Amino acid sequence: MTKEYQIAALPGEGIGLEVVEATLTILQQVAIKHDFKLQVDYGVIGQAAFQQYGSYFPESTSQLCSQADGILFGAVSRGGLLELRKKFDFFVNLRPVKIIPSLLDKSSLKSDRLAGVDILFVRELVSGIYFGASGRGEDALGNYGYHTMQYYDWQIKRIAEVALAKAKARRGLLTVAHKENALPHLPWTKLVEEVAQEYPDVIVEPMLVDNLAMQLIINPQHFDVILAGNLFGDILSDLGGALVGSIGLLGSASLNESGFGMYEAIHGTAPNIAGKNLANPLGTLASAMMMLEQWGEVAAVKSLQQARDTILSQGYRTQDLYSHGTETLVTTQELVELFLEELF
Ligand code: IPM
Ligand code: MG
Repeated sequence: MTKEYQIAALPGEGIGLEVVEATLTILQQVAIKHDFKLQVDYGVIGQAAFQQYGSYFPESTSQLCSQADGILFGAVSRGGLLELRKKFDFFVNLRPVKIIPSLLDKSSLKSDRLAGVDILFVRELVSGIYFGASGRGEDALGNYGYHTMQYYDWQIKRIAEVALAKAKARRGLLTVAHKENALPHLPWTKLVEEVAQEYPDVIVEPMLVDNLAMQLIINPQHFDVILAGNLFGDILSDLGGALVGSIGLLGSASLNESGFGMYEAIHGTAPNIAGKNLANPLGTLASAMMMLEQWGEVAAVKSLQQARDTILSQGYRTQDLYSHGTETLVTTQELVELFLEELF
């Protein structure tokens, strides 16, 4: 029997609309090729949801998501996203950063530093400073604001478990981002090392987050899996965009304990190019590939990777990647057409 998957599509705002539409068109084609079906239902989130329902993450969207096999997310400027992550306890955020050989010259780093770079960021997504006690107040010294970086030990240990398992299945090196010289009550090193007792073949390498940021630029080839809390993971993974040449290429998966997930590019709404058919859909497509992989549709993922690599090696570039005359500048829509031809 033909398998059928339900996708909850949440385009959000800005280029989110275009990149989700583009990705879904490509996905429908790969589904035909590999003999499965995709049922897509749309939900609102962010500003659009607020205008319509007075809530950035309305109950109807939450319902829609809970009935789906996966959530394909576009982008929002503010509101809705953190609630969605928290609602489904998407504590695992996987952000792969892998160099595409035909785009080596797009990075601001020298090519010989980049060849073979293949990093997996594992970012904790539902705790830390994004979700700790916060507010504004006033005392004798003036007005103030605060956000608290709080982690339960078990929250660090459960994300450590995921990162260790990933490292074990890859090259066996887990770098742990921490800031224990200033924040000693968040002992990431000790907690990860406790869990690592069960993973004798993984080398755990604790690294101060400021040094880690520098090492990512000096020697990106060193890294395999990088584990970080919510805020540090957010900041470090954008460096990944600089490494591969455009943040528009990077995708992510956010998963909970049962493997249910939401899939989104790591870029934002890009209001300056929104609605102009210029956006790069490859970040959202990369996220959708992670969704297919999670469902076990590995042959479909292979087809998509091949199509993407062929198109890029032929020199087709959306404007974020276009730099010289030997390349062909394409719109979002034209890039989709190229995929449809490749996947036919
Ligand atoms: C990301 C984004 C979000 C984050 C913003 C939009 C809240 O930067 O997913 O990387 O910080 O988590
Ligand atoms: Mg970010």
